Amino acid sequence: MTIELGPFPDAPGYEQAVEKDASDPLASFRQRFLHTDPDLIYLDGNSLGRLPVPTMAHLEDLVFRQWGDRLIRGWNEGWWDLQIRLGDLLAPLIGASPGEVLISDSTSVNLYKLAWAAVKARPDRDRIVTDDLNFPTDVYVLDGVARELGLGLEIVPSDAIHGPVEGLTAALDHHTALLALSHTVFKSGYTYEMAALSAKAKEVGAMTLWDLSHSAGSVPIDLHRAGVDLAVGCTYKYLNGGPGSPAFLYVRSGLQERLHSPITAWWGHEEPFAFDLDFRPTAGIRRFHTGTMPILSLAAVEPGLDLVAEAGVEAIRAKSIALTSYLIELWEEVLSPLGFGLGSPSDQDHRGSHVSLTHRDAWPISQALIKIGSVIPDFRVPDSIRFGLAPLYTRFVDVHTTVHRCRQIAESGAYSGFVDAPAVVT
Ligand SMILES: Cc1ncc(COP(=O)(O)O)c(C=O)c1O
Repeated sequence: MTIELGPFPDAPGYEQAVEKDASDPLASFRQRFLHTDPDLIYLDGNSLGRLPVPTMAHLEDLVFRQWGDRLIRGWNEGWWDLQIRLGDLLAPLIGASPGEVLISDSTSVNLYKLAWAAVKARPDRDRIVTDDLNFPTDVYVLDGVARELGLGLEIVPSDAIHGPVEGLTAALDHHTALLALSHTVFKSGYTYEMAALSAKAKEVGAMTLWDLSHSAGSVPIDLHRAGVDLAVGCTYKYLNGGPGSPAFLYVRSGLQERLHSPITAWWGHEEPFAFDLDFRPTAGIRRFHTGTMPILSLAAVEPGLDLVAEAGVEAIRAKSIALTSYLIELWEEVLSPLGFGLGSPSDQDHRGSHVSLTHRDAWPISQALIKIGSVIPDFRVPDSIRFGLAPLYTRFVDVHTTVHRCRQIAESGAYSGFVDAPAVVT
């Protein structure tokens, strides 16, 4: 079946979508990203953000001038401190100060370093607490740290959509070394009240470690005000740093000298170029360094951070709420009668910038959307189609068109041909 591409001007709500776009204060940011296919509606910016236009010239300069011409001199001309300088650019976007954020490694590696450091600093405690909405890598890493250091990991169960706040609160006690959670959870988009839960952890003397991967750049975060000890997150989602771009870690300034990284590598040494054989951790956030930074992918992070800073997280959040609320409104009217369920919180204050819709045939429908509908969401087992509504480049008309393309595909049964087994990356 061929689906007619383009918007649905005759469908209810179209005029409203056009008006919302016309009065969107962030509308001009869309042109700051590359769009090679005018028909494509990209709703996966919560997995991999779009390419910012300035990134292309930035990388060209890096490759041809800096690497090609400056060669090894580049290390003393900005590369050596790049991860610190970019960390300082990210800091105000998450309510941290310069010197508290380091861009480095992957989220998994950073989580390992910080969870290990936190637990080591609390030898009198024997439990790490998390929930079953956390991203699997977080649970694997926390479990690994717990086993390695002889603690237990308590995974508090949820209803699969909302964070189990009561269960978590009940689980926190004087045995808890660390409370580690995703701020916005990957499947349902549930978003915790970070300050309230961090305060509960503090009451019992536990440290807090938040994974900000799905909230950095889309949900306002104030790590200082929330009293957070530690945080990690990736830069390839709403920060638009590119595929596999380095992640970040945050360590509250007052804690930095008390914590030690389990990876005692040369970039975290007091004097890396003294080349002595005794490890002496350097002061400050640099002690959480590992080895040589991937400068090509690190450099690509900067233009995305600049765009988020220019737009402002509060304005991004206002549009994000408007987009996700609009999608939920249309789901209720158009898609819920066709067997689609809501797999995300209906309360906007506890929702990030993605919305999951559930359906018995979610996998083939998501494939039909991509292959014949020119809409890219993603699929999460067992039955969720996840729509990432990145506010800097998603229009209200895109949401309207997506919902009506879903309707067309579901009503016509056009998805029935897309029953191949899920690809490796879904
Ligand atoms: C919340 C969360 N944490 C961690 C990760 C994975 O991090 P990495 O692959 O950078 O280690 C993801 C990936 O999507 C994620 O959504």
